[in-house]
Amino acid sequence: MTLTDTIKITKTQQSKINEVDFNNLSFGTVFSDHMLISKYKNGAWETPEITPFQPLTLDPSSKIFHYGQSVFEGMKAYKDKDENIFLFRPEDNCKRLNISAKRMAIPEVPEAYFMEGLKALLKVDSDWIPTKDGSSLYVRPFIFASGNGFHASPADEYIFIISTAPSGPYFSGKVRVRIEEKYARAANGGVGFAKAGGNYAGQFYPTQLAIDAGYNQVIWTDDNTHEYIEEAGAMNVFIRINDTLLTSPTSDRILDGITRKSILKIAEDEGIKTDVRKITVSEVMEAAKNGNLKEIFGAGTAAVISPISGFGYKNEDFDLPKLDYPFALRLKKRITDIQTNKAEDKFGWRVKV
Ligand code: PLP
Ligand code: COI
Repeated sequence: MTLTDTIKITKTQQSKINEVDFNNLSFGTVFSDHMLISKYKNGAWETPEITPFQPLTLDPSSKIFHYGQSVFEGMKAYKDKDENIFLFRPEDNCKRLNISAKRMAIPEVPEAYFMEGLKALLKVDSDWIPTKDGSSLYVRPFIFASGNGFHASPADEYIFIISTAPSGPYFSGKVRVRIEEKYARAANGGVGFAKAGGNYAGQFYPTQLAIDAGYNQVIWTDDNTHEYIEEAGAMNVFIRINDTLLTSPTSDRILDGITRKSILKIAEDEGIKTDVRKITVSEVMEAAKNGNLKEIFGAGTAAVISPISGFGYKNEDFDLPKLDYPFALRLKKRITDIQTNKAEDKFGWRVKV
């Protein structure tokens, strides 16, 4: 008997699928009928179950509410024209969830619970996977401290859930960013490399300040000097100066993005010159002024590849040039064609469900 055979499945009595307009999906606002749930108690994860997507009941003293002990992942499921279901490099999400979990003193989830559980869930909710171009089923695995107590120490109980949301594009319209000179999302020795919930909460206030100033997102710089470009919102960032595509090396402060590392591979395959090195704000400013700055784009699961149309730094604003066939477009097509089974998967990234 495999794990998949032992996953108990309780189907919803009332599917909500007919209420969803699959031609007009926003990002992460409607949720599929079912979720996968596993509880950690007495030192072990229980066999996951698939249940109707439903509210949870938690004690007000659950440590998630007080100490923010939580980690999450973001992935997508795609359907090709023959209704085959695919995931993109899912083992990497599973590994990263457990890297994040370890840093946040959360017990690691067995890989089989994640992988087999996710596949079983996708089969149950396969009708929820959109097929329209630019849409997919966003998959959100997460773990949080459900154990009780005000003592500032790790909880003794946790809940692991995978929920899914049929989703359209993360951004609508142009994305203008502000290069941050005061706030930071991460610091050396901190939790920036982990997908810890609190990392995102910490971004909301500075991002709102940037929105109030007329931008959509923040380009995060290093916490110490604010002289190095690190990430863009919840995305890794790529900068094209002349014909070289630059991105920062991953570190304690930068998330090891799956889209980022896939883009580096595809770019190499396309003959695009890449350089993984620290990027200074001053060199980007100089390149913007002398015309060598060609493109900036963010890369991440939710956002795929999102071109940045312009940026602000201190009191100056710059527009990025409009190119006929930017790297962003070329790379986005390559990666989405692989994800959706429209192109050969020469790197072995697709996983059929
Ligand atoms: N950086 C941050 C802070 C993120 O939250 C994400 C999103 O997951 C990324 C980068 C991109 O990572 P990935 O491509 O694995 O989704
Ligand atoms: C993703 O790209 O999947 C993320 O997790 C970013 C998220 C904050 C929407």
